[in-house]
Amino acid sequence: MKPRVLSGMRPTGALHLGHYHGALKNWVKLQEQFDCFYFVADWHALTTHYEDRSDLERNVYDMVVDWLAAGIDPAKVTLFIQSRLPEHAELFTLLAMGTPVSWLERVPTYKDQIEQLRGRDLATYGFLGYPLLQAADILIYRAAFVPVGEDQAPHVEITREVARRFNHLYGRGETVLPEPATLLTETAKLPGLDGRKMSKSYGNDIAMRDAPAEVERKVRRMQTDPDRVRRTDKGDPERCPVWQFHRVYSDADTQAWVRTGCTTAGIGCLDCKQPVIDAIVKEQQPWRERAEAYLANPKQVQWIVEVGTEQARGVARATMRQVRSAIGLNY
Ligand code: TRP
Ligand code: SF4
Repeated sequence: MKPRVLSGMRPTGALHLGHYHGALKNWVKLQEQFDCFYFVADWHALTTHYEDRSDLERNVYDMVVDWLAAGIDPAKVTLFIQSRLPEHAELFTLLAMGTPVSWLERVPTYKDQIEQLRGRDLATYGFLGYPLLQAADILIYRAAFVPVGEDQAPHVEITREVARRFNHLYGRGETVLPEPATLLTETAKLPGLDGRKMSKSYGNDIAMRDAPAEVERKVRRMQTDPDRVRRTDKGDPERCPVWQFHRVYSDADTQAWVRTGCTTAGIGCLDCKQPVIDAIVKEQQPWRERAEAYLANPKQVQWIVEVGTEQARGVARATMRQVRSAIGLNY
């Protein structure tokens, strides 16, 4: 039996290249080696965006189509939607009973996010409890590994503490809920068009399904080394977001060409950008083909989610039977 991997993403709608290189590419790779459970964390979206739900359904399906477009194979992975499995909420409630509030308050993302999303009222119970909901997501499938970025590592850590506490309180020497490990993965960091983190809300993203002309337009107006104003000015790739793209998309020869050309003013910035445009358009080609087939047949996407959800339900229910019985709720 392959060890189980579990990961989730908030339904932010159509995904961009930052999502692909930062997480999704790795998900595709992991499906060959592990028993992968990937899910749409739609309740998690509500922890911060509980007021604006208008795009929720479209965002869920746009994201799932991008997963499939990227090469997530429904024959290999269990793909599902969190809100279709109330078992997550049941485990969350039971774990909440013994979880100290201070554990949640000291999660680094808690104060961070309240600062960053200052326009929103996040003094809510749901937002405070969100790492515990994530713990329930993970523990209910007895996942061995959770592939997440650095920012999410504290959530896996709290999951381990929650599992340990549960087993100590109710396990009578047995491990009811196994502790998961973080699967730290080498992912490429791709900045946005302006050098900040790539994000749709910053308007600096390239979507996985942007058309080739759109990719070309976006990369051509991408920011470069701010000191390289004229074609004759020498530049420094380290100060240029285009260089970060070359690090992801270009081979050693092209990278050497960029370095020399940039630092001697031997090439112009538009010359430099062309191989990046070509590489992105080429990378997108199979995504576009797969997405087209799924978009032409939305029922097929719904069916994939349906099958995955029922598979997940079987596992979640089995865990909940053991959890209830450990606590003494099997009457
Ligand atoms: N919190 C994660 C994020 O914001 C999404 C998520 C929810 C998740 N539950 C999870 C990731 C369980 C891994 C495992 O990106
Ligand atoms: Fe950036 Fe390339 Fe222009 Fe140098 S030549 S500043 S690396 S775009």
